Amino acid sequence: MGKSSVPLTSLVKTSGCAAKIGPGVLHSVLEKLPTFSDPRLLVGFDTSDDACVYQVRDDLVAVQTVDFFPPMVDDPYAFGQIAAANALSDIYAMGAEPATALNLICFPSCLDIDILRQILEGGYSKVREAGAVIAGGHTISDPTPKYGLSVTGFAHPGSIRTNAGALPGDALILTKPIGIGILNTAAKADMLSEDDRRQVIQIMSTLNKYAKRCCDGLTVHACTDVTGFSLAGHAIEMAQASGCSVRIEADQVPILSPALDFAAIGIIPEGMYNNLDYLQDKFLMEKQLPQNLQDVLLDPQTSGGLLLAMPALEAKTFLERMEEYSPWCRVVGEVTDKKEKPLIWV
Ligand code: CO
Ligand code: CO
Ligand code: CO
Repeated sequence: MGKSSVPLTSLVKTSGCAAKIGPGVLHSVLEKLPTFSDPRLLVGFDTSDDACVYQVRDDLVAVQTVDFFPPMVDDPYAFGQIAAANALSDIYAMGAEPATALNLICFPSCLDIDILRQILEGGYSKVREAGAVIAGGHTISDPTPKYGLSVTGFAHPGSIRTNAGALPGDALILTKPIGIGILNTAAKADMLSEDDRRQVIQIMSTLNKYAKRCCDGLTVHACTDVTGFSLAGHAIEMAQASGCSVRIEADQVPILSPALDFAAIGIIPEGMYNNLDYLQDKFLMEKQLPQNLQDVLLDPQTSGGLLLAMPALEAKTFLERMEEYSPWCRVVGEVTDKKEKPLIWV
C-alpha cells in the first residue's frame, strides 16, 4: 500500500455520524449503569441532549461535548472541517458559545503524516471561525482514521436551550437540508457528481454558529442539532422530552434532491435501518409517504442543522435573519399537544 495514495474513505466501513452505535443498542447498555447526581449538573445525558451543562456560578454554566468519527469524504482538509463543525454544533445547539477544543485523533501508521496535517488544518479553520481555541488533544495509532473534538463552551444559565420545553403551537424550524447520509453513501460508491459532492461538503462544514446567533434575543423553547438519529429521531426526542408531539409536513422539509433519487435505488446507509428499527413505533403518517421520502426522513445526518421550536412570530424574524446564511432554512411543522405518537408526518 503506497503511503499517501489511499482514499480516506476506503479505510472505513461506516462513516460520519452513521458510524454511531445504534440508539437501541446504546440505551440497553446505558440503562444498566449507575447514574450520577449532582445539583450542579443541570443537563446530563438522561434527556438525550446534545451536551452536558454544569453550573459554575449563579451567572455561568459550562457546556461540554465530545464527537469524533471516521471520514465520510476523501479530502482530508474537508474531513477535518466537517468533523470540527459537527463537534462544535452540540455547543451551539445548547445555546452556548464554544471556548476551548481538544483534538481527538486516531490515525493509521500506514498513512502519510501529511494527511493528518491536512485533517487538523481543516479542523483548526473551523475552530478559528467559531472563535474558539485548540487547547490540546490526544492521538493514537489506529487502522481506521477518526477525528473530532471535545469542546467546552460557556453561557449564561438563562440562555441554555435544551430538547425539553417545546410548547404546543410552536413552529418547528430546520436550518440545513437532509439527505446527507444518503449522499455520503452514494459518494463512497462513486455515484455522486462533482457538483453534488461539493455541495454536500459545503453543507456539512457550515457551522451552526450562524443559526445559533440568529436566534439569540428571540424566544427559543427547544433546540437540538440533527445528526445520526435523523430528522425523525431528533424530532421524536424533542417531542418526548417536552411532553408534546410534533407534526412535520414532509413536503416542507428541505431535502438535497439527489438523495431521493439514490434512496429510490437503494443507496441507503446502514444507520437508516437502525433508526427505522428504533423509531418505527414512535411515528405515524396521516397519509402514506413514498418509500424513498421515508428513507430520507430517517437518514442519519453528519453535521446537520439545528431543529428549533419557537413561537410562530419569532420564527418569522429568525427566518428573515437566516436568509443571509442559508437558503435551506424553513418551518417544517409545528408542536402540538401530546398525541398517540410523538411524531406525525403529514
Ligand atoms: Co447533537
Ligand atoms: Co453530537
Ligand atoms: Co440541546
